[in-house]
Amino acid sequence: MKEWTTEQRYQRLEDTTTSSMADLTALVSACPWRFSYHIQPPTGLLNDPNGLCQQNGLYHLFFQWFPLGPTHGLKYWYHVTSQDLVNWNIDENIVRPDTPYDSHGAYSGSALVEDDIVSLFYTGNVRDEYWQRHAYQMLATFGPDGVIQKQESPIIPHPPLGYTSHFRDPKVWIENGTYYMVIGAQRTNETGAILIYSSDNKIRWQFLGVLHPSQEIDGYMWECPDLFHLDGKDILLFCPQGLTELQKENENVYPSVYLIGDFSLKTQVFSQDNPVEKLDYGFDFYAPQSFLNEAGQRILFGWFGSPEITLPTDINGWQHAMTLPRLLSVKNGRLYQEPFPTLSILRGECENYHIKGSTVLKHKATATYEMIVDIENITEDITISLYKNDAEAFYLTYHHQTTNITINRENFTNSFATEYGTERSVKLDSPLQKLHIFRDTSSLEIFINDGAYVMSSRFFPVAIEGDIDFSSQTDETTCTVSWYPLATISLNQVKK
Ligand code: FRU
Repeated sequence: MKEWTTEQRYQRLEDTTTSSMADLTALVSACPWRFSYHIQPPTGLLNDPNGLCQQNGLYHLFFQWFPLGPTHGLKYWYHVTSQDLVNWNIDENIVRPDTPYDSHGAYSGSALVEDDIVSLFYTGNVRDEYWQRHAYQMLATFGPDGVIQKQESPIIPHPPLGYTSHFRDPKVWIENGTYYMVIGAQRTNETGAILIYSSDNKIRWQFLGVLHPSQEIDGYMWECPDLFHLDGKDILLFCPQGLTELQKENENVYPSVYLIGDFSLKTQVFSQDNPVEKLDYGFDFYAPQSFLNEAGQRILFGWFGSPEITLPTDINGWQHAMTLPRLLSVKNGRLYQEPFPTLSILRGECENYHIKGSTVLKHKATATYEMIVDIENITEDITISLYKNDAEAFYLTYHHQTTNITINRENFTNSFATEYGTERSVKLDSPLQKLHIFRDTSSLEIFINDGAYVMSSRFFPVAIEGDIDFSSQTDETTCTVSWYPLATISLNQVKK
């Protein structure tokens, strides 16, 4: 695998030649694992979703982008827009790392819509001549012409006393006429924290204090905080790096978690109803961001990937994608995540099946599908191969006694991130009733019991089309299945 020098990582897109980008684009489009209906980078690496919002009906999604290859380097904000969160168009107006305050990356941040103006809050990453990191919180805006204009100087020029330059990912909201911001941070004693700021005008910000979860949570840096009200509760999303209670094996490099409870801006205490819980129990999920659309729905996108891993797509010059959009709600004291309803416009004709015991449902199914499994009766363990072909298979097993679901991707020649294990499990709080599964060329997103749990995973099969089969010991287990082929979105159609 290519080793990237610092100089190569910080090469500017603007300084590349048209022919070198054309070569990279050709290499990327030759990859068998390009997605069909997920947002993916045209070249290079995609990470966090940024600047999510809806204005005058149009959704905007930006993402962290290193254009020149499958590695973390000089970050831009790539920009796509949509009317329905399913079909996307490229928007040429991107955020570039082109000022003294973001010269080494326009890092993650959020959007705020006020009438015709969209404000983008982000972190300017700068390395000085000694390669010391500096983090500046920045503001850029765009109006109806779409042209992004940056505020010349930072709106928050440095972290408060007692915090390091790991100070990033501003998420802004407005409440009773005041602007509030949460920022991921690290104390000088190398513990993670979330800082809260307020402002009357989006330009001058005041440090209010540190968010205090009511139960202790450790880690050396907390990234990508997101704080919002939902269905009468407060929810905090964040990504704590270095949690000690997680075992190294069978866990992602860093988790992405949420708290549910009640937050007081006055005391800055987040009174938790439950211990910290993972947002996604699969292999590949990190740095999610939510936003409120014009209909008042709270929608979440995550980075369909995780830091510090190499992928089989690296040789084709690109990495990662966005997850599908998820509609959030609070039910039974927990956060639920369901596939956003507009995704159904991708569906082809529905095929209905009734399953009894072990059954091959599909032989050489399409490279992409949506499948809804409604359990009628279950008295034993069942295993569903969501993809199976010769020696390769992606298994989902439901353990009836324990109500555990395990997914397993150990049987692939193109293995990756195996140092973090090849299995993930989640214990359901009630028996399995429903699975809602989306397969794209190289991914599976599994929504369990109407979104009570989600497991998202990449996999890289040698043969793209595989079988789907159900296997159980007896015929007592029965379920109904709706299976749909899915259309390709225009963003991902290869231009002829
Ligand atoms: C999370 C993250 C953010 C940062 C961005 C840089 O994946 O590390 O904290 O802003 O990526 O690309």
